[in-house]
Order: sequence, then C-alpha cells, then structure tokens
Amino acid sequence: MAEKRIGILTSGGDCAGLNAALRAVVHRAIRGYGWRVFGIRDGSLGLMNRPLDFCEFDLSLVSGEMLRLGGTILGTINKGDPFAYPMPDGTTRDRSQDFVDGYKELGLDALIVIGGDGSMRILNKLCKMGNVPMVGIPKTIDNDVAQTDYAIGYATALSVACEAIDRLAPTAASHHRVMILEVMGRDVGHLALSAGIAGGADVILIPEIAYSLDGIVAKVAAVRAEGRNHALVVVAEGCKTEKGLAMTQLHTGGEARYGGIGQYLAEKLGQLIEAETRVTVLGHVQRGGTPGMRDRLVASAFGVHAVDLIAQGKIDRVVAWQHGQVVDVPLSEVAGITRAVDPYGTLAHTARGLGIYLGEMAGG
Ligand code: F6P
Repeated sequence: MAEKRIGILTSGGDCAGLNAALRAVVHRAIRGYGWRVFGIRDGSLGLMNRPLDFCEFDLSLVSGEMLRLGGTILGTINKGDPFAYPMPDGTTRDRSQDFVDGYKELGLDALIVIGGDGSMRILNKLCKMGNVPMVGIPKTIDNDVAQTDYAIGYATALSVACEAIDRLAPTAASHHRVMILEVMGRDVGHLALSAGIAGGADVILIPEIAYSLDGIVAKVAAVRAEGRNHALVVVAEGCKTEKGLAMTQLHTGGEARYGGIGQYLAEKLGQLIEAETRVTVLGHVQRGGTPGMRDRLVASAFGVHAVDLIAQGKIDRVVAWQHGQVVDVPLSEVAGITRAVDPYGTLAHTARGLGIYLGEMAGG
C-alpha cells in the first residue's frame, strides 16, 4: 500500500484516555502500514494557524507512558468554531478555508478527529467543504455521543464521581447532613445516574427527567423514617431549577457554562427540611487524572480501528463501542447528535428498583 500521511487532532474538552488513543493510532499507522502520522496542535487551530502547528510522531514518542497520561499531549480547544471564529474585537470570522488550506499544505491523505458530538459536527462540515477524508473517534466524559456505548473519558470520570460519593458518605453520616454532589455531563445525565447508583445515592437528578422539590423532601423523610440520619443527592449540572431555569456561570471571556444547580437545591432544601445541607461541585477533577483501565482499552481499540478504516478506504465513519465490540458507523449518524439517558432504560429502571428518587415520571 502506498505510503500515506495522516493527521490526527483532539478537539473539544479534554478527558482521560486521549493520549492512549493517539498512541494506538501512531502504533497502528506506523507498524501496520508504514504511514507517517502528524499530530495537529490545539484542535482545528493547528491547521488554521500560520505557520502550521503540528508535530510528526514516531514510535519513540508513543511509549506505554502515554497510557498513564491524562489530558492530551496535542492540546485542544472547545471554542473557536472555524466557521464563526471569535475575534478579539468581539466579532466572528469564517476561517474554515484556513483549515482546509492547512490540511492541503501539510499534504495529508486523511484526518482522524478525536472529539465529542459538537466537534464531530464542526469537523464534518469542514471536511465536507474541503473534501477531507475523515474518521472520528468519540470522546467525552458526558458519554453523549450517539451510536456508542462508551466514549473515551467517561469511565474514568465515572470512577472519580463514584469515589467522591464514597468520600462524602461517611462525613454525611457523621454530621447527619444532606450531601449534594454536582457532577458534570452538560445536557445529559449519564455520569450522574451511573455514579449515583454505584455510590448509593438516595436522590439522583438528571436533565432528562423532571423532578420536584417535594419529591426530594419526601425521599429524605423516607430515608429518616427507615432509620438513617443522612442522605446523598447527586445532581447533573445540566438540571434546571424546578421552574425550568438553567443554572449557569460566566467564566473569563464571557463564556457561560453549567454550574450552580447544587447550591440552588441546597438553599431550597434548607428551607424545606430540618437538615444541614452541604454542596460539593466536582468540576474538572472529573476530566483529569490517570486514565482508568476501561478508557485505556477502549481508546486503544478505537485508535487501531480508526487507522484500519482509512486503510480500507472507509471514510466519513466514526468508530464506536457496541455490545463489547469495536465497530464503525456513518459520521452522519453521529455528528451533532446527542445521546441522552433513556428514562425507561436499564439504569433508570435499576435506580427506581433500588428506591432512588429519580424524578416524577410515570413509573417513577
Ligand atoms: O463536555 C465536557 C464538559 O466537561 C462538560 O461536562 C462541561 O459542562 C463542560 O465540558 C465544561 O467546559 P469547560 O472546560 O469549558 O469549562
């Protein structure tokens, strides 16, 4: 097979396991096919900047240490859509052609994009515009990429969230408190639901299921009636107030991100029940740290399969994990599509079966 030059970039919020995927791509491309692999720095920026910002990988750069390394050695961005690139004066500019020109200047034959649903949507648009053959690898601690049971980073984030509950439980018990843990997840509740079940929460609130303060209060009262003096509440950051208001916070540059629903609940519950409440916002701790075993495995399988797809001429595909296997699906079935929690799925049913208050749905 003729030598190819493939590019790889990480896009969107970082997470644990990205470096394991990079490592797998480089190993497979060089060992399996004798290709050259170019790492694009800072997501799409590396191809938009002049001079181009990239590195060429060789096997000495991708030792087993990459498996243990959190973050992404390439850097990433979760803002800066090339079609509406934010300029310093507050306006936006279409810089998509810079990206396509950068791809051509580097002489690439295909691009592997490690990203979430949003990044896949933007990159898909860019690649279509420039006739760039693309293969996607799903990553995000939110685990909301369509068509895949697992996205890279989710398993590690879940372990972190579960460990947080493990640490909160004893102090909640000692002080007879209601402990509220706010976890990430953007618009979906996969992290909150799984961590809450695994950590033994009494209440789990996710954006997909409406809740009422009365429902939470009733659950805490029931816990007390059963003889326990403390309770654990896990809430997904994307949950709204009882009146449907999204809780957000402004960060530097005026960017809004979810945050504050835990504090809102604490204040409301404090007024409704006689119990001390405390809030822990887990935040970016969920994204960092040493990748867990499942993320290392899934990332490695994804990386190898992504390169194989390019070798087979199968482009505009996204690798996915389904029923314990790595498979691939059309990019059009993934790009920009959010996979929400099924309110009647296995985990929701499990939570209800355990007596966890999950909201106010039929069957809840
Ligand atoms: O999508 C991943 C994620 O960590 C979300 O769970 C969270 O809402 C968001 O990114 C945080 O973004 P930032 O890193 O820009 O604060």
